[in-house]
Amino acid sequence: MAEHLQITQGTKEEIYQSLLPQIEAVLTGEPDLIANLANITAALKEQFGWLWVGFYLVKKTVDGNDDELVLGPFQGPIACTRIRKNRGVCGASWQQAQTLIVPDVEKFPGHIACSSLSKSEIVVPIIRNNSVVGVLDVDSELLDQFDEVDKVYLEMVVEMVE
Ligand code: SME
Repeated sequence: MAEHLQITQGTKEEIYQSLLPQIEAVLTGEPDLIANLANITAALKEQFGWLWVGFYLVKKTVDGNDDELVLGPFQGPIACTRIRKNRGVCGASWQQAQTLIVPDVEKFPGHIACSSLSKSEIVVPIIRNNSVVGVLDVDSELLDQFDEVDKVYLEMVVEMVE
């Protein structure tokens, strides 16, 4: 594994094309989920400088009667620990089992503002055996920062997670 991430400049596509093989290399041969998710958040945060990059994983509620999203490895300001299904952008992405791009979080009904600095957001579900096992959530301090390019490449990133 390389000791340092090679930071790339160029178009967003070029950046992802340089970054993805590096992430793949870091994950190769490492079966530990938390370690791999942690390195993915670090690589994305270091390359793009987004406000917040992190995972929420589907786990049991505290009373054990239901499932909810529980905060996993992330980079950025402290965040909400638990999110119920269909709550906020993360809960909606889980419910719909699809990537959601939100250009202006204030216009998303039910958006959960973990940080008032967050202005736009993309949430990518991790789908295994036809069910969502977690989501990758990325927040930006700027409006309208995410598009189809991010969707395509971030979906590839979550595919790398074992
Ligand atoms: N904004 C998210 C909650 C997670 S934080 O942004 C880290 C949402 O609405 O689901």
